[in-house]
Amino acid sequence: MSQHPVRAAVFPVAGRGTRFLPVTKSVPKEVLPIVDRPCIEYVVTEAVAAGIEQIVFVTAEGKDALVDYFRPNHDLEAYLEATGKNVALSQIQEVVRMAEVIAVRQDLALGLGHAVLQAKEAVGDQDFAVLLGDDIIDAERPAIGQLMEGRRDGQAVVALMEVPRADTRKYGVCAGTMLSPTRMAVEAMVEKPLPENAPSNFAIVGRYILPADTWSRLEATQAGAGGEIQLTDAIAQLAAQGRVIGQVFDGERFDTGNVVGLLRASLHFALKRPDLKDAVQGLIHEMASR
Ligand code: G1P
Repeated sequence: MSQHPVRAAVFPVAGRGTRFLPVTKSVPKEVLPIVDRPCIEYVVTEAVAAGIEQIVFVTAEGKDALVDYFRPNHDLEAYLEATGKNVALSQIQEVVRMAEVIAVRQDLALGLGHAVLQAKEAVGDQDFAVLLGDDIIDAERPAIGQLMEGRRDGQAVVALMEVPRADTRKYGVCAGTMLSPTRMAVEAMVEKPLPENAPSNFAIVGRYILPADTWSRLEATQAGAGGEIQLTDAIAQLAAQGRVIGQVFDGERFDTGNVVGLLRASLHFALKRPDLKDAVQGLIHEMASR
């Protein structure tokens, strides 16, 4: 069992969000709302619920609105206090209190592995989590926390989900020996294989717990699939040493990296809100009958 709880989490958020243009010309895609909160907040909340205390955003130019969301806004707080808007005041203060937030820059878009590597100085020599903002997971136990359960120091754990074979080209894919119906000793990892080359249909979703020596693996990783430095390729080196576990998590995953996926997540979370449920159900019904 791990003796050292995982306290730091890296959130690569430097992507341009081209699938959401034109809105992402001036608004970071991570700030697009699901109901009344930026989509990145759902992922940060998951991490904090699992005991994460330090959040490292790997950002790029144009992402100030994302980082500012997690920092105090004294003018707004003073206004809400003066006008007696106490619920809104405590909501915005709670977001700021969630965790310590650090932002580092990725100046060249060289891939996910390269993005994560930019957090090396901020995280330092400790095991850490990585959460990808496009994957929102609604679960009773935070998905990243499920990856921490039963983990040994020095082990990497990646979240797995079975996908249709035709979809393997969208994911990193893992193969290995099943230790239980939900736990795989990972032996091979391939980034975005064609269906005919995929070693299995177990896809990585955007949750990882990684040992501190991942930094040196990332530094040595050359460009791979798509000409990018891939996180999957760095972790594959650990898999070759028998140090990677794949965990099939409990929970529902939403891919908010495309417009329909974001709408689906919005409807899901709106339907979970007692104050919105009836109105949204009525809306869906009315739209479906057009
Ligand atoms: C990234 C990873 C991939 C993983 C996926 C999950 O790909 O490189 O291994 O399966 O996230 O969402 P991306 O979606 O950034 O292309």
